[in-house]
Amino acid sequence: MSKVKSHAELLRSRQPGYTMPSELFSRQDVFENDVDVFFHKHWILVGVSADVPEPGDVSTVDIGKSSVIIVRDEDNEVRTFRNVCRHRGARIKEAGKATIGKLVCPYHQWTYELNGDLLHAAQMGKDFDHKCKGLKSVHTKVVGGLVFICLANEAPADIATLEETMLPRLAPYQLENTKIAYEAEIIENGNWKLVMENNRECYHCAGTHPELTTTFLAEDFGYCEEELDEAGQQSLASYRKKNADYKASWEKDGLICEPVEKLTPDVATLFRTQRLVMAGHGESQTPDTKVACTKLLGNATRKDQGDTHLWTHSGWNHVMSDHAVVSYLIPLSPDKTLVRTKWLVNADAVEGVDYDVNNLISVWTATNAQDAALVAINHSGTQDPGYEPGPYSKFSEQYVEGFANWYTGRLEAHNI
Ligand code: FES
Ligand SMILES: [Fe+2]
Repeated sequence: MSKVKSHAELLRSRQPGYTMPSELFSRQDVFENDVDVFFHKHWILVGVSADVPEPGDVSTVDIGKSSVIIVRDEDNEVRTFRNVCRHRGARIKEAGKATIGKLVCPYHQWTYELNGDLLHAAQMGKDFDHKCKGLKSVHTKVVGGLVFICLANEAPADIATLEETMLPRLAPYQLENTKIAYEAEIIENGNWKLVMENNRECYHCAGTHPELTTTFLAEDFGYCEEELDEAGQQSLASYRKKNADYKASWEKDGLICEPVEKLTPDVATLFRTQRLVMAGHGESQTPDTKVACTKLLGNATRKDQGDTHLWTHSGWNHVMSDHAVVSYLIPLSPDKTLVRTKWLVNADAVEGVDYDVNNLISVWTATNAQDAALVAINHSGTQDPGYEPGPYSKFSEQYVEGFANWYTGRLEAHNI
């Protein structure tokens, strides 16, 4: 009788250069370890400061068995609390957004200030010490308008590297001075790791994403030089020239473009960033590659600032001169993953005047739907008894394998 492999044995059974074994995508115990390690013990992006634009605004996000309330307090500070009442543990807010004066538990009306202090708890007696029953705060780092949290008691210190890297890159866009023009959620029928793997390669893009591929340069996502025909060689030469020209021009304007990669398993806070040259008019991820919003972000003066992308282990973000697209996932079950996307524009931009929302969201709405379909067929195929791990392309899927290696290394670091 074959013995059921442990999570660690499944990790060790993966051949280098090959995809993960089927059970890593489907087993409940693996899923629970994944949520615990990658969503409760690492830093995760759970929102943007524009989710809570005014004091009293709250945005509640559920992550596995945990739930957090992102609050903008009276001092205009973004704080995050465990969504657990300090009385008998009821949830204080349901997932979603609201505007409130105080945080009031619906069960027995314990009432908390926006800074988490317990203000009022009836019938607890004169000697009851309110001070030690404030809401539990969660490690929070707002990096250029992106809200990261860590639910661990001790949060990985290397969020500082992400912060140092991203702050000067994001500062000119002033994402804290944006509004959410549109927000979308998809529940994908696949394991969260397949959603991430799909995001870490563009091997599939030419065959799947007609809208997205209009906006970027295909060579950015890998090529096999020895397979290039004459047209391919010419395209590569023009890609290199275009990159060199843009780099010189951006650097002259003080726009940082160098890639930074922190993707190896010794790093807890995985990320990658780079200012990518865009195709066509080079302005924005829109159907015509021109800006979708005429009121640019922050103090932008030029429209062709490229696409400053930021990958994390659970999300992907694109910041352009006129708008930003922020996407992150939350695993719901071994075969279901929530993908949430927010499109941000200048807080002063007016819909119908400065931007058309359909134009703004068109590329990523199509791309997300196409990716969801790919993840579904991928997940389903990996659960077929006929599945066996297949080889990654060395040229186009190096970041997918890098993600699989990081996944393994981080679980080992957490003694799985
Ligand atoms: S559980 Fe919140 S007031 Fe009782
Ligand atoms: Fe895709």
